[in-house]
Amino acid sequence: MANIVIVFDSLRGNTKRVVDCMNELFTGAGHEVKMFKPKEVETAAVEAADFLLLGGPTYHKKLINTMEQALFKLEKANLEGKPGAAFASFGWSGESLGILEDTMKNLYAMDLKVDGIKVKQTPVAAKVKKEVEPFVEKILATL
Ligand SMILES: Cc1cc2nc3c(=O)[nH]c(=O)nc-3n(C[C@H](O)[C@H](O)[C@H](O)COP(=O)(O)O)c2cc1C
Repeated sequence: MANIVIVFDSLRGNTKRVVDCMNELFTGAGHEVKMFKPKEVETAAVEAADFLLLGGPTYHKKLINTMEQALFKLEKANLEGKPGAAFASFGWSGESLGILEDTMKNLYAMDLKVDGIKVKQTPVAAKVKKEVEPFVEKILATL
């Protein structure tokens, strides 16, 4: 059983839908999932993760501000070589994914095992699942 940690934020529920779907899929595969909003991030829990996922939406071509703050907080954790991946919810451009991946690679020296995904905004959980399932399967194959 792997210990999967997800740090994310969501203003209008779309990124949260992605996280709920990942939680269901990882838990269903027998893994433990811990989820943190930026203000709740626990450095020790993040350092103890077997796989670390960071996710957030794009607003005005940028990563959401609270996730920027989480990235500063995570700089204090030792994440060198930590397996991980990023995900994003977006409407039309989705810059948040690249910002997260750049930071994970260049600042934290994490090992991005799987290319991140951009999930198009939708209130329909089944559509989210269709996009998220292949991403989760790729991650499961690395655990
Ligand atoms: C004011 C505003 C600005 C936005 N700017 C962008 C943008 O620059 N690029 C983009 O891809 N999506 C943009 N979006 C769409 C959001 O990224 C999308 O709705 C996303 O699913 C929101 O995630 P959340 O519900 O988790 O907050 C914008 C949405 C709003 C309301």
